[in-house]
Amino acid sequence: MPGSIQTTSMNAKSLPPLPADKLPVHVAMIMDGNGRWAKQRGLPRLAGHRAGTENLREILRAAVEFGVRVVTIYAFSTENWGRPQAEVEGLMGILRDVIDRELYELHEEGVQLRHIGELEQVEPALQRKVREAIELTRNNDRLILNVAFNYGGRAEIVRALQEIIREGYSPEAVTEDVVSQHLYTCTVPDPDLIIRTSGELRLSNFLIWQSAYAEYYFPDVFWPDFNREEFYKALVHYVERDRRYGKV
Ligand code: IPE
Ligand code: IPE
Ligand code: MG
Repeated sequence: MPGSIQTTSMNAKSLPPLPADKLPVHVAMIMDGNGRWAKQRGLPRLAGHRAGTENLREILRAAVEFGVRVVTIYAFSTENWGRPQAEVEGLMGILRDVIDRELYELHEEGVQLRHIGELEQVEPALQRKVREAIELTRNNDRLILNVAFNYGGRAEIVRALQEIIREGYSPEAVTEDVVSQHLYTCTVPDPDLIIRTSGELRLSNFLIWQSAYAEYYFPDVFWPDFNREEFYKALVHYVERDRRYGKV
């Protein structure tokens, strides 16, 4: 089938099917632990960040294979500007390299690339590259990939409120739906499952509004070691959960 993702390589391990009616539509991932992965190997932190891009293609293919429709990845937070300048610049360079290296193939495989966060603070050449990638892939519909880059959940809510006020809403007209519709994620459902690698148990300002009823999964592996099997394990845990939404 043209434009389809070859779900697995010839020798990829076959995994028991997951119940289709219980799968998450939207999986959000906090890609954490690159620095510690590098440190364990005596490498500079940036080597860890680079390694943390090598598994992306496998993860996105697995998402399609497992039937997930939307993936959001946390790549750079509004707080990450506080890291040493060399690391921040390195991360910007890595985003640029990933687009150069992966865009054509992602497009071929039907991935629609989106960005959430503030692009304006990113250097103009990189902004352009991101916008071009979004434009190129805008009609793809196999998988939506939201890249959270210069993203912060609180900043997103403040921005939504500013927009709502600017549009002249009366206080009574501001509902939860109205707020949701003014977030970056307005066109996708809230995440069903949030995965944070590296054993840290926090959200770090990621999708704080949208995660109100998400399920969480915290594998101990560092992000560069998160692969198709690890993703599968996360989904196995998810399908066993009983989501009650406050009911009985
Ligand atoms: C996550 O890995 C990637 C980014 C935040 C950009 P870290 O860089 O946070 O890795 P650790 O947590 O220091 O191991
Ligand atoms: C969250 O990880 C941000 C990303 C993964 C992009 P951090 O490593 O920056 O978060 P903290 O500092 O552990 O909360
Ligand atoms: Mg970290």
